Amino acid sequence: MYNSTRESNNDFWRLDFMTKIYAYAIRKDEEPYVREWSDAHRDVDVEYTDQLLTPETAELAKGADGVVTYQQLDYKADTIEALDRLGIRNWSIRNVGIDNIDLKKAKELGFKLTNVPVYSPDAIAEHAAIQAARVLRQDKAMDEKLAKHDLRWAPTIGREVRDQTVGVVGTGHIGQVFMKIMEGFGAKVIAYDIFQNPILKKKGYYVDTLDELYAQSDVISLHVPDVPENIHMINDESIKKMKDDVVIVNVSRGPLVDTDAVIRGLDSGKIFGFVMDTYEGEVGIFNEDFSNKELPDKRLADLIARPNVLVTPHTAFYTTHAVRNMVINSFDNNLKLIKGETPDTPVDLDKEF
Ligand code: COI
Repeated sequence: MYNSTRESNNDFWRLDFMTKIYAYAIRKDEEPYVREWSDAHRDVDVEYTDQLLTPETAELAKGADGVVTYQQLDYKADTIEALDRLGIRNWSIRNVGIDNIDLKKAKELGFKLTNVPVYSPDAIAEHAAIQAARVLRQDKAMDEKLAKHDLRWAPTIGREVRDQTVGVVGTGHIGQVFMKIMEGFGAKVIAYDIFQNPILKKKGYYVDTLDELYAQSDVISLHVPDVPENIHMINDESIKKMKDDVVIVNVSRGPLVDTDAVIRGLDSGKIFGFVMDTYEGEVGIFNEDFSNKELPDKRLADLIARPNVLVTPHTAFYTTHAVRNMVINSFDNNLKLIKGETPDTPVDLDKEF
């Protein structure tokens, strides 16, 4: 555990009227970018910790004008109230998702919130594409054979991406990059979105209904938020509507997928493979170290053990490019909030519920 301050060796000139930003859960890989931002803003006192923001750690931010956090824990009323008691209501998150924040409480207490909605669509889209291609080539099964020194080819035969129809659910920034990558591989790409992009529409990508997308796609990749209408959109019913040997890719939000239904689909052989970077039970598990221990979630352990399931612990976003943008943009946003300026990417708390 560490708590750090850029000014630790410069305390003699730190004045109480300096603007102060306190950042939580800063990882080692984020530190260079925090330093980069801090060096470019010598008039701002930047302090940080590797600890997550909780009702207990809120106290660390005492005296700050704003806080910067990221999504790993649920930020419930008790956490928000703890910041409020310290008079800190300028809150910038380094990621896009705000589904873990009690927005109602934040609004009620007069918080101003920002996120970083677009930090690197390529990071996430690339991951989805790489994993989808790996599932199609049965790479994990081949790796497992190799580890046992079984160098035979059969029966681990691959499917080429160009032979697939790839159905993209959600054509925002990430969905669009994913479409481009898949087309680069030669796939036929179709898409569904309730908000159709006019350029994509003109190019004829959209099908009219999700059912059509399910019926036509060999690979289905989700790129939508977990708003209530989308929760468990992948379920027994929707899986039934899909082609046999479908590959399902979820690098978006865990709750989009009814995991038990996917397991049933894998068991029956209906689903050829599953890419899972986000999991409905991930809070408190992903980004934790269970080395040499049993995983606390048996269903997750079961999925990890399957040769046709590729689990990653919500790391699709985790690239140097994305992390830099997340840090720099969130600190920029926070400073603008503190100065009473309009931040680049405010979260409209009036619109969220
Ligand atoms: C987001 O930006 O919302 C993500 O999903 C990545 C985050 C958990 C760091």
